[in-house]
Amino acid sequence: MSGTAIAVARFRFSAFVHAGESARKYRLARVWLALKYLRDVNSDRVIRSVASAFCFRCLPAARDARLGRTSPVCISVFILTACAGPQSALAPAGVGAENLAQLFWAMLIGAALIWTVVVGFAVYVTCIKPGAHSETTASRLIIWGGVAFPVIVLAILLAYGLTLMPGLREAGEGLRIAVSGELWWWRMRYFPPDTENPIESANEIRLPVGQRVEITLTSPEVIHSFWIPNLAGKVDMIPGRTNVLVLEPTKTGVYRGQCAEFCGASHALMAFSVVVVERDEFDDWLEKQARPALRPRAPELKAGRDLFLATGCGACHTVRGTRAAGIIGPDLTHVGGRLTIGAGILPNEIDSFAHWIAETQQIKPGVHMPSFGMLPKGEIKAIAAYLESLK
Ligand code: CUA
Repeated sequence: MSGTAIAVARFRFSAFVHAGESARKYRLARVWLALKYLRDVNSDRVIRSVASAFCFRCLPAARDARLGRTSPVCISVFILTACAGPQSALAPAGVGAENLAQLFWAMLIGAALIWTVVVGFAVYVTCIKPGAHSETTASRLIIWGGVAFPVIVLAILLAYGLTLMPGLREAGEGLRIAVSGELWWWRMRYFPPDTENPIESANEIRLPVGQRVEITLTSPEVIHSFWIPNLAGKVDMIPGRTNVLVLEPTKTGVYRGQCAEFCGASHALMAFSVVVVERDEFDDWLEKQARPALRPRAPELKAGRDLFLATGCGACHTVRGTRAAGIIGPDLTHVGGRLTIGAGILPNEIDSFAHWIAETQQIKPGVHMPSFGMLPKGEIKAIAAYLESLK
């Protein structure tokens, strides 16, 4: 949206307010402005249609904008497309999320029933039979329609919700993953059943399908919230506490997790990939993760490793098998094997690494790592290529 368009929209908005429009128009104007902004930043036709559906008939300004009429089909498509995808609680791929999705639909049906009955009675007494009612009829309407019916439906929903709770609290089956919420990334430590030393990774979680994995959640600094919508509900990560969540994926695939509690400047940039694979594949992967980093063979990769060590990256990062043993930032031993870098915000490519190293603070404001844009471009590229090679 251009600066002029924003100014015009603001002007129209304030014109509504100052012209003493009714409170209803004032609210509608705000909705219209928000939707118009969405329409302008996303040229998506569906959003445009929704904007026009809400505003076309109510606001002269919306008519001026020639937003065009829309059909209810567009609105339905717009809403229903939000139910699918790798970060949707309504496309469950885990036991916890399945329970929560069932509960959501049950509550939606219950809410729709209550709304229909209560509004039905209101329409009955105001439109269908608007005359005076006897005291007995009025009492019956209030007691049965306004009290008894909602209480019964809500009690059924409560009982149903309580029956789902035990399934969410089942114990894990051996593998434990300790996740720590950092500023603004995720530290993952895998504890297989018969191992003393954890296997450290970051910003990506791998899980075997069909197995209950215990996730312990902590945070050293501020409160975060660990949420993989397709697999389970969200659980807070609170400094000084260890919360426990059990994940039991039911489908293989790649999902997306996201911090769900405002935790500072880069809260919205704190995501992670979740890769659910078959058990054998998971065991192979974990065994590889436990090994030290690959030794680079190509001269340019060796140069990248030497620059990585000489520039002091090892003060914050660990690359097992080298002298880099820092623990402030993410473990980079197998960083090239992850789907994304920067906690779910950039694709895992050499260019992304180079971009990240040179402009860290622009990409993720406030993160502990400073930007290294002062390094010569060639050196940044060499370090980027080395990191990308760490599969
Ligand atoms: Cu971490 Cu929001």
